[in-house]
Amino acid sequence: MSDHAPLVPPLAEHGALAMTEEELRDWGHRFGRSARLPLLVTISGELGTGKTTLVQAICRGFGVTDDVTSPTYALVHEYAAPKGTVYHLDLYRLDDERQLDALAWDEIVSGAGLVLVEWPERAGSRIPPGHVTLSLQHLPEEPTKRLMYAGWRA
Ligand SMILES: Nc1ncnc2c1ncn2[C@@H]1O[C@H](COP(=O)(O)OP(=O)(O)O)[C@@H](O)[C@H]1O
Ligand SMILES: [Mg+2]
Repeated sequence: MSDHAPLVPPLAEHGALAMTEEELRDWGHRFGRSARLPLLVTISGELGTGKTTLVQAICRGFGVTDDVTSPTYALVHEYAAPKGTVYHLDLYRLDDERQLDALAWDEIVSGAGLVLVEWPERAGSRIPPGHVTLSLQHLPEEPTKRLMYAGWRA
């Protein structure tokens, strides 16, 4: 973690922050800009909580200029940026951990890139330790905001 520790505390010290979409994009952009590789980030949350929105902002901040679209069917999209390669995975449709092998999962998560994983729960124990955990929740009483938690899983 060491290198990434400064990114998480501003959020972690509050426990969680309620963010508008603009605030969430801004946080993601700053996170992406300061990300140092290799880095694995898991993004948890129900459908529509803003996981892909956050990934798009992180990619933009990291220097990806291509359009970042949801890899729901492909499971993984890869982008080149000046600082390195970005892998955006959405495991929502993963129904068997063995499908991970077809994606070269082990190479991706142990490689040199920035790896952003939506629905990490689907990968079970195949998610290696040592990653940033981001989690988003709906706020029923505030439909334009999302509650975000950030942490580090050692
Ligand atoms: N505070 C917020 N943060 C993120 N997204 C928000 C927020 N408020 C509204 N939204 C909307 O919620 C939707 C989130 O979609 P998306 O990022 O695809 O979610 P997920 O990948 O979690 O299914 C977008 O249409 C976005 O405009
Ligand atoms: Mg998504």
